Amino acid sequence: MGWRAVQPPHIAAGLLLLLLVNLPVTCHQDHQDAVHITAILGESVVFNCQVDFPEDIPVPYVLQWEKKVGETGQDIPIYIWYESYPTHSGEGYEGRVSRVATDSPYGAASLNLTNIRESDQGWYECKVVFLNRSPNQHKNGTWFHLDVHAPPRFSITPEDIIYVNLGDAIILNCQAEGTPTPEILWYKDANPVEPSGTVGIFNDGTELRISNIRHEDIGDYTCIARNGEGQVSHTARVIIAGGAVITMPPTNQTKLEGEKVQFSCEAKALPGNVTVKWFREGAPVAEVAALETRVTIRRDGALVINPVAADDSGQYLCEVSNGIGDPQSASAYLNVEYPAKVTFTPTVQYLPFRLAGVVQCYIKANPPLQYVTWTKDKRLLEPYQTKDIVIMNNGSLLFTRVNQNHQGRYTCTPYNAQGTQGSSGPMEVLVRKPPVFTVEPEPLYQRKVGESVEMHCEAQESEGTQRPSVTWRRRDGLPLQKNRVRAVGGNITIDTLRRQDFGIYQCVASNEVSVNEMK
Ligand SMILES: *[C@@H]1O[C@H](CO)[C@@H](O)[C@H](O)[C@H]1NC(C)=O
Ligand SMILES: *[C@@H]1O[C@H](CO)[C@@H](O)[C@H](O)[C@H]1NC(C)=O
Ligand SMILES: *[C@@H]1O[C@H](CO)[C@@H](O)[C@H](O)[C@H]1NC(C)=O
Ligand SMILES: *[C@@H]1O[C@H](CO)[C@@H](O)[C@H](O)[C@H]1NC(C)=O
Ligand SMILES: *[C@@H]1O[C@H](CO)[C@@H](O)[C@H](O)[C@H]1NC(C)=O
Ligand SMILES: *[C@@H]1O[C@H](CO)[C@@H](O)[C@H](O)[C@H]1NC(C)=O
Repeated sequence: MGWRAVQPPHIAAGLLLLLLVNLPVTCHQDHQDAVHITAILGESVVFNCQVDFPEDIPVPYVLQWEKKVGETGQDIPIYIWYESYPTHSGEGYEGRVSRVATDSPYGAASLNLTNIRESDQGWYECKVVFLNRSPNQHKNGTWFHLDVHAPPRFSITPEDIIYVNLGDAIILNCQAEGTPTPEILWYKDANPVEPSGTVGIFNDGTELRISNIRHEDIGDYTCIARNGEGQVSHTARVIIAGGAVITMPPTNQTKLEGEKVQFSCEAKALPGNVTVKWFREGAPVAEVAALETRVTIRRDGALVINPVAADDSGQYLCEVSNGIGDPQSASAYLNVEYPAKVTFTPTVQYLPFRLAGVVQCYIKANPPLQYVTWTKDKRLLEPYQTKDIVIMNNGSLLFTRVNQNHQGRYTCTPYNAQGTQGSSGPMEVLVRKPPVFTVEPEPLYQRKVGESVEMHCEAQESEGTQRPSVTWRRRDGLPLQKNRVRAVGGNITIDTLRRQDFGIYQCVASNEVSVNEMK
């Protein structure tokens, strides 16, 4: 055997193929004596094959395993062994084929095929070619038929949970692969599904159809795929879908400014993917600029405002929905309390001499204002002892008839149940004469429909005050018709008089001291 030393292995392989081409072609299906083997997907199988030496004298040989592939039944070598040369594995068989080790150095022609695939199914032939023998002395190979069995595995299953409304129609689809082809069985709860007028099993058992779902159709549907190698099952739960229902609505709350408030809004629904939206006085909270940095909506739907501000009082509404039915909503009121506060301090206020006048205290309070204290020139004012001064409900000071003594420097301090946030700044109160009319309208103007009327009015400021503006208005509050009314200074002209222009007109002269009305 000199050529073993000189032939590089890859040329040896070429030589082997040449030898094999000369072998007689056999028809596999004729082989009554073929060995039938069944293997399970993923496992391994051994094809047993003997080496029968001519005259029982060991001689060099080549072991070749072939597989019949394709429509044409071509034989493709999947494993070639020759002594110490590297073995050859066919495409797709790399690492999956090996000779079974035996004690005898010459008897090992059996093939171990591992990690079996479905495509491995088919005909295999074991060929032992003795070198130094003419081809016609060759024995036919041994034939094997491999069946690959696979336990069932699902390729399509229904959703785990199927939400339905009564009256719906649904199709549950369950498909499985495996060898032999698995059969599909359907169970409802623990019992086989009984086909009826509204329940049917179609397409080789892969489809369970329910038309017009009724209460008694609700339950767990299990499809079982089984063959001789095993079985798998999958259960789908059919549930009546339900729109979101609020289980914990928000409740009215009263908080002190600066505290934290939380409104709950918990809901139950099937499916449970509830979205919760919050609105303040009808506007989504996310769009209320004043709340922006202080508001959060928690995972459980609760609205949290931290800290609350005085202006957060109002209605808060939550709306829940899971996409089924109409959204539900619930609302509650937030009442933010704080000590009474002065919102604005005018540095100068005027009182009209000899008329009634008001010194304003601009206040915000929740709970409502209880009382206001006033100081005049740093001394507490005791209005109850002064007959012409009244503290009004809104805290402002009413002087029923103003005189010079009322002039001074005032402050106001508001109180409610929460106390006070302090006094106003000092307000200079000046007593001035109100504007006086220099030209007054006539007491009566008489005109015909279609004519026009001019009414005269002029006013003058008193010393140390601003020039009054002179305007006209109807005493019954009806607006003047702009397109027919012309005003020049304090005079107005009304053109093309109509019947409805009849009425009492007032001329008003106003400046910072007072509003003076001419009837
Ligand atoms: C076949 O090969 C596999 C993997 O190498 C091994 O686990 C198994 O024991 C072998 N079977 C036989 C019969 O040699
Ligand atoms: C080989 O197979 C052919 C075809 O099936 C058959 O005619 C022949 O007898 C077989 N030879 C041996 C030695 O079994
Ligand atoms: C919540 O407050 C609102 C407005 O103040 C009121 O109309 C409603 O009755 C209150 N609800 C409860 C349960 O007290
Ligand atoms: C909740 O899930 C259902 C079904 O998956 C879907 O139809 C619905 O639109 C979802 N609702 C919301 C609010 O995301
Ligand atoms: C207080 O009430 C009087 C009378 O209604 C009103 O004229 C005055 O403008 C009010 N003052 C404030 C600050 O609201
Ligand atoms: C208003 O009418 C009076 C009387 O006719 C007249 O003296 C005065 O100049 C008019 N005023 C203006 C601003 O036209």
